[in-house]
Amino acid sequence: MAKPDLVKEVKSKLDLVELVSDNTNLSGNKNALKGLCPFHNEKTPSFVVYPDKQTWRCFGACSTGGDIFNFIMTSENINFPQALSIAASKAGVKLTFNSDTERDTHSVENANEIAASYFQSLIKTPEGLKARNYLNERGISEEIISRRGLGVNYEGMNTLVDHLKSKSVDSSSAIKSGLLVKWNNNVWKDTFTNRITIEIRDENNKLVGFGARALGQNQPKYINTRQTQLFNKSKVLYGLNWAKNSIKESGSAIIVEGYFDVITAHENGFMNVVGCMGTAISDDHLKILDPLCSKIILSLDSDIAGKKATYNNLIKIIRNFEKPDLLHEKIYLCDSDKDNDPDTMIRENPESWKSHINDTKSLIFYLIENIDYSYNLSDETEIIEASQSIYPIIITIKNSHEQNKAFDHLAKKLNISREKLQLLPKPKKNKRQSKHIYSQSWQNNENKLDEALINFLITNLELIESAKTIIDPKYFSPLYQHIYEKIISDVPLEEILNNMKNSSDEFTLELIESIFNQTQPSSSHESKITIMNDYIRRIRERYLKERKIETEKIMKERMVEKDKNSVQEWDYIIEEAIKDNQEIKTLQESKN
Ligand code: UTP
Ligand code: MN
Repeated sequence: MAKPDLVKEVKSKLDLVELVSDNTNLSGNKNALKGLCPFHNEKTPSFVVYPDKQTWRCFGACSTGGDIFNFIMTSENINFPQALSIAASKAGVKLTFNSDTERDTHSVENANEIAASYFQSLIKTPEGLKARNYLNERGISEEIISRRGLGVNYEGMNTLVDHLKSKSVDSSSAIKSGLLVKWNNNVWKDTFTNRITIEIRDENNKLVGFGARALGQNQPKYINTRQTQLFNKSKVLYGLNWAKNSIKESGSAIIVEGYFDVITAHENGFMNVVGCMGTAISDDHLKILDPLCSKIILSLDSDIAGKKATYNNLIKIIRNFEKPDLLHEKIYLCDSDKDNDPDTMIRENPESWKSHINDTKSLIFYLIENIDYSYNLSDETEIIEASQSIYPIIITIKNSHEQNKAFDHLAKKLNISREKLQLLPKPKKNKRQSKHIYSQSWQNNENKLDEALINFLITNLELIESAKTIIDPKYFSPLYQHIYEKIISDVPLEEILNNMKNSSDEFTLELIESIFNQTQPSSSHESKITIMNDYIRRIRERYLKERKIETEKIMKERMVEKDKNSVQEWDYIIEEAIKDNQEIKTLQESKN
């Protein structure tokens, strides 16, 4: 970024009044000049410039304002560095950069902007007719063409190479931008020819690259800017510049596959839609959206290959994500398909797409449901592999109630019992691949409670009989249910422990070790009962609270589609919720 002094210098050498006067007539007194707003249509002036402060404000429809840079940014629809460079050249100030990379980035961005204007002007010429016709047939009017920055580049016409030269873009920037490809020896030609060009801007409106669609059936259908210092498909979401505000306001973002899916969505009022441009969703994509919203809906291609790829990709992301529980909370999926993609669906009937994106599945439900696209579940070994791929994912679900439900779902999907599922060999710990997952689950404080109670019981065997009558295995976190069940069975403890130690996998062994490492206060029999009761109360309370969260979620979902549900079903949900609440209250009272 250019130095602050430089910004000041540029500002001091320019006059906002002069600049604005090129766009609109100003009149009034020297403290405040008024004119018609250059940014929206109006009959009575609501645009004011304050010469002393060198600021402006539109009190009409735009309701924005700022300094000279904001004025250039708004009128040219560009970002700050671009505005600064325009302003600097107007002011006759030389821009200096802190590093060569900064200078490079600036010039690549500049080359992209020049190319974009060039493509967009070409599509308006008679030579652009074929492209306009193609787009019109896809429901894209001339107005949409300019609003969405679509253009065209033809083969063999005044090529972009020449145009960039005429605009004094140096050849190194032109090459670094990816707009040119090497033809032979030292001859460079345009990358995008005979194609519709699509601007790809990042969330700050910086023009980072282009997509380009063939005008007919030519292959490849799309080509995109190669990876450059500005463009990396895995780190940019198409349309985020348009969608950002709506994503923040609505609290949710929808990711679709294609460029035209995004354009059509936005043109039809679905403003929180962004595109992954056909690549696999990356953790960077999710990290970009994470701070903006609480729900991320993936609407991805759902042919067999697509589902398999999505399954494997999501598993990989969750395994490596620093806070996997966040993904369980935020990500929802709905299937789309190639012949009926969002673009097609929305153009046919926007309402049907609306219900489509409301019909989502949670991340874990989706993964379990689609596990058979990646594994052949009629094969014993593949059942084990399937379970091993999803097991580390299920244990990252923080809410043990939901974790439990996921294990139930998995058992059902694999067509085995919960007991059998529990006994399948667990995956080997792969520290490099899953460091976050393992550290997270072991350090999960909630799990410590289960470990503490089990440890307490095996060090105070006389209490097992009474524990058995007050706490059912279902209250435990799923990982510990099985161990608790064994402890309260009639088999002598020694035998159980020996069995576990000899036959268990690495995974369970670590659990057991963790249980044994718990330290307990030494105490009289009476206070032992108090301690045990306290553990039990806390575990039951946790279970009920988690169930409550889940019930509330179900109720919210049902609310959206309430007419579809019967009164009985509602009554049942509410009845259960009331029961849970009462139980929580009793437990809390018993604390005192
Ligand atoms: P699709 O093949 O689903 O195409 O690719 P589409 O978006 O429906 O294209 P239209 O509607 O026929 O124009 C989805 C996205 O994958 C990327 C593009 O971003 C495309 O929008 N893609 C696809 C490529 O980058 N290259 C390709 O050759 C194909
Ligand atoms: Mn399409």
